[in-house]
Amino acid sequence: MTEIERFENSNIFEKRKQDHVRIALDSRVQFELGTGLNRVDLIHEALPNFNFSEISLRRNLWGQQFEAPFFISSMTAGHPQSLAINTTLAKAAADKGWLMGVGSQRRELRDPRAVAEWTQIRKKFPQVRLAGNLGLAQIIITPVAQIQELVDGLQAVALFIHLNPLQECLQPEGTPQFRGGAEALARLVDGLSVPVIVKEVGCGFSQATLQRLDNMGLYAVDISGKGGTHWGRIEGYRSQEGSPLFEAAQTFKDWGVSTTESLINAQEALKKTKSWASGGVRSGLDAGKLIAMGAEMVGLAKPFLEAAVQDVQQDVQAGSSLATDSRSADSIFTGSLLTEKMSLLEHELKIAMFCTGCKDLQELATKRVWKWQT
Ligand SMILES: Cc1cc2nc3c(=O)[nH]c(=O)nc-3n(C[C@H](O)[C@H](O)[C@H](O)COP(=O)(O)O)c2cc1C
Repeated sequence: MTEIERFENSNIFEKRKQDHVRIALDSRVQFELGTGLNRVDLIHEALPNFNFSEISLRRNLWGQQFEAPFFISSMTAGHPQSLAINTTLAKAAADKGWLMGVGSQRRELRDPRAVAEWTQIRKKFPQVRLAGNLGLAQIIITPVAQIQELVDGLQAVALFIHLNPLQECLQPEGTPQFRGGAEALARLVDGLSVPVIVKEVGCGFSQATLQRLDNMGLYAVDISGKGGTHWGRIEGYRSQEGSPLFEAAQTFKDWGVSTTESLINAQEALKKTKSWASGGVRSGLDAGKLIAMGAEMVGLAKPFLEAAVQDVQQDVQAGSSLATDSRSADSIFTGSLLTEKMSLLEHELKIAMFCTGCKDLQELATKRVWKWQT
């Protein structure tokens, strides 16, 4: 068995993914000092010249219309609870007309059974717009044709590639093998049929890295900055207290570039590539600030995971078979907490737009309605 095959071993993989979901919901893994958005103000407009009902959140991407500039940021897949969680997320994304990033498809590259989860979900929600997800370490060692098969299987509208060097260093089964990453990204962009978006997982980007990424033909970089879920901390809490990885994770618990600083870096460095933003986004006002500062799309992970898990738990109490590991997508989820959360975000973003005098996203992005707090 090769090293990679050992890491891909089903039991280890499923345990890791379940640990991630459990620990991601622990408040200790959230970066307590925030995203830096508390230093940004939107400029109040007391006399907007339109009605609230006229505000449009619509965003066109790749010839398709999305009902809001939000996306469900890539999370989980491939373990006993993930079918229920992902069904809940996909239903909500389909109902709301939002984009959804799926969790890492690393396992699908080597285990065709892992594809079944998404096949079921795709069958149930044919209209949902999904974006695939792989890590840099995987695309370095995987032929583009095989990645294209994953994209086709999911009927993905785009592919996220995550860069997560800190996480790979602190993960007991981590693969911090990034040599040749830039070349692999360039090959992928060249050979793949859908747009490629590079993202971090909560540690953000420096200007220098963004300058290098700008020449690769990527559609966007999702800066996924520091301010919310911190993956160094999550991996640290998977290791035994006092162990070297636990201690190292404590040392690096504040590592990263904040979401605000990363977006400013992106505005400076990205000339050909769009900026997307995530990492600690917790309200529609946060999203309004990020769009005003130049983000085309805004993503959230942990708040949606939390709502989806609660919806699944309520479903279990109500006696649905789907929320267990039944591996069937036949029950209907109401997804009520999740869709309420999504509606609240839309409503808050609209309030931010009304109170800055911006009727649509184009105006919010171009009217320079933000300033640093004094
Ligand atoms: C449980 C969980 C699993 C995640 N898995 C992935 C993943 O497979 N691929 C990826 O690119 N990002 C993954 N992420 C990172 C998120 O997409 C996001 O970048 C990060 O959590 C910061 O956003 P947040 O502060 O809103 O949680 C995961 C996040 C969570 C909470």
